[in-house]
Amino acid sequence: MKILVVGSGGREHALVWKLAQSKRVKRIYAAPGSAGIAQLAELLPVGADRPAEIVAAAREKQVDLVVVGPELPLTLGLADLLGREKIPVFGPNKEASRLEGSKSFAKQLMREEGVPTAQYETFEDYERAADFLETQAYPVVIKADGLAAGKGVLICRNRAEAVEALGDIFQKKVFGEAGRRVVIEEFLEGQEVSYQVIAAGTSFLPLRPAQDHKQVFDHDEGPNTGGMGAYAPCSLVTPELEREIADTIIVPTLKGLAKRGIDYRGVLYAGLMITRQGPKVLEFNVRFGDPETQPLMVLLETDLADLLGRAATGKLAAPVEWRPESAVCVVLVAQGYPGEVQKGDPITGLEEVARLPNSVVFHAGTRREANRWLTNGGRVLGVTGWGKDLSEARAHAYDACGKIHWTGRHYRRDIGAKGISG
Ligand code: AMP
Ligand code: GLY
Repeated sequence: MKILVVGSGGREHALVWKLAQSKRVKRIYAAPGSAGIAQLAELLPVGADRPAEIVAAAREKQVDLVVVGPELPLTLGLADLLGREKIPVFGPNKEASRLEGSKSFAKQLMREEGVPTAQYETFEDYERAADFLETQAYPVVIKADGLAAGKGVLICRNRAEAVEALGDIFQKKVFGEAGRRVVIEEFLEGQEVSYQVIAAGTSFLPLRPAQDHKQVFDHDEGPNTGGMGAYAPCSLVTPELEREIADTIIVPTLKGLAKRGIDYRGVLYAGLMITRQGPKVLEFNVRFGDPETQPLMVLLETDLADLLGRAATGKLAAPVEWRPESAVCVVLVAQGYPGEVQKGDPITGLEEVARLPNSVVFHAGTRREANRWLTNGGRVLGVTGWGKDLSEARAHAYDACGKIHWTGRHYRRDIGAKGISG
């Protein structure tokens, strides 16, 4: 098989790493990929935001499967274009990608299908939204409808903050077009879980439940980020809870999509809040989570090329097999992240860490210059360790983290700690 992976982050590095272990895979291409991914795949100089060029590259290289990492090309209709060319693609079509690309679309689908989620209303103008705020309990959550690079969610502790947030979105247009419409919803309390399934139509295979860590500092303090670390499996999700998630969330969502004429092929990612009333959906994503994918790929036993290829052609088989272990990914970020960061700092220690037996480093924002690795983004590396249980996996991940250095590097020390104390 020849496979083209679209994207350039830590998630895509982990996918390529796992695909490279498959005996069926003869060649892997990445568009645009990264210096880290270049160790395992041939890079094609095509941006993930250029669907037509990705299709042309897939055709030229005669690939058997395209695996789409990020949401943007999916919302731009990459899967539809590939489908027209009869090139199998792992990733849903443009209409289905609205599940992530439009929060109001996702909320309406959940309301109509009875999927548990926070109570909400949708608004397209400031006045009516501001009036609605008078009737709300606080905190309240205000979300820009469209894609806003993970920054479009504002948790407002009181009415003044909420009114300010509306001003930022509707008047100052801080999220641009993505903020033309907003969802205002009830604040949910509980623990968050990332629950992902590989779906083909209404059939699906669950992946291991995982837990992300969104805030930049220990104990969930500081601003939200793209993700500071994740672990799997997450013991909070008992077999009973898993059944409830399947029955009340995954099945009705896939059926609801099918009813609307959508044959969903790809990952359905449900960001859940486990509340006292049970699991409720915070958001849907139409692709693998980042950094959740990093621990999942080191635990996966099943051949990834076979799994994704089957989903792409609508023929899921056999349960997914997992190593009976735990894995933890700790994200090393540059100073200042999630704000402006400095780039180009030399990274040391990667050669030493490469010799450790129970960890692997996935690159998110690095580049290679004159035989050195340099930082090249906010999230720089995803150091992923595994072991017989979560404590051992954490020990391996943190042992590796301690050997990697550059000026101003930061990482949370408590990734996975909740899974042990709780
Ligand atoms: P989202 O992009 O919708 O997942 O939101 C980003 C983060 O905001 C989530 O991971 C939660 O931590 C938080 N969040 C979103 N919606 C709610 C809600 N209704 N109640 C509490 N927290 C929320
Ligand atoms: N880890 C959260 C996400 O991928 O959206």
